[in-house]
Amino acid sequence: TPRVFSGIQPSGGLTLGNYLGAIKRFVDMQDAGAYQTIYCMVDLHAITVWQDPADLARNTRELAAGFIASGIDPEKSILINQSQVPEHAQLAWIFNCVARMGWMGRMTQWKDKAGKNAENASLGLFAYPALMAADILIYHATHVPVGEDQKQHLELTRDIAAKFNHDYGVDFFPMTEPVIEGAATRVMSLRDGSKKMSKSDPSDASRINMTDDADTIAKKIRKAKTDPEPLPETYDGLKDRPDARNLVNIYAALSDMSRNDVMAQVGGQQFGQFKPALADLAVEKLSPISGEMARLMQDTAEIDRILARGAERARAIAAPILDQTYRIVGMVR
Ligand code: TYM
Repeated sequence: TPRVFSGIQPSGGLTLGNYLGAIKRFVDMQDAGAYQTIYCMVDLHAITVWQDPADLARNTRELAAGFIASGIDPEKSILINQSQVPEHAQLAWIFNCVARMGWMGRMTQWKDKAGKNAENASLGLFAYPALMAADILIYHATHVPVGEDQKQHLELTRDIAAKFNHDYGVDFFPMTEPVIEGAATRVMSLRDGSKKMSKSDPSDASRINMTDDADTIAKKIRKAKTDPEPLPETYDGLKDRPDARNLVNIYAALSDMSRNDVMAQVGGQQFGQFKPALADLAVEKLSPISGEMARLMQDTAEIDRILARGAERARAIAAPILDQTYRIVGMVR
């Protein structure tokens, strides 16, 4: 069976962008039954920028709770935190020696995050995509569901696999397929439709957090930026209306409807009518998840047991692949 891998950084709370662009898709792929699915809290990636240790531990457990509350079943899927499967970091070292400085320097996320002060960025932040490639390839995963912002990193993953295979004259690492599908591959800020919804945006009103209560969710949607026109009859009519388009995309993703079906239903409506309907839908879908997350967080020992068990299952796959990699490279075993 083809293998799916994806990861999320435990570097703050979960947003609606993470949920619709990633976790909801993870659940779909798990439930499709056609894949072996492995999902990961990438704690090693998180520390490429400073994380308070107590916050990191809490965010890792809360993210695990978010996965489970959203429908990831730790029996059906393998649920892990990256640092408990040391093979990720071990393969990443090999990939640090395969990837080129120039490739890393061209990553837009590196340029955005390091900015003009690259001298002061961590070496880990620069090497970040090599660890990400290792996350995927240590399982020979073939499908990686992500939001649009990870596309460039997945192209680099293919470049690393291809260069390794070429340099060592093997056909060992597979070419992974990004799975960037659905209505919400890029959820935008509620305050500015040209910016991605992000946990690091200083304005809390710009995003919906998975831990927001019903009133907060409704208020943020009511206040979301829009334009004065009613909704058009077709999705095409949203082309130059990023704020309106974003709300329609969120509606489509939350309701599992196609964008065209949503437009057939809401075309012609004023935002005074559409926003309350969207708020109701968001509360209906998200409140049960945040409630379940809070419940799971009352028993963190159980979460830790789930992650320890996940790590065992993950290592059973990863250890032989690492061993073969070392042999290919010429490391004496
Ligand atoms: P991270 O933690 O920034 O985001 C986790 C996932 O959420 C998606 N996402 C969004 N999707 C739609 N709209 C948004 N506004 C939005 N914001 C975030 C991201 O695309 C991602 O799928 N480098 C990765 C983590 C990672 C990983 C991996 C992913 C590490 N190793 C291996 C896949 C495979 C990251 O920083 O995602």
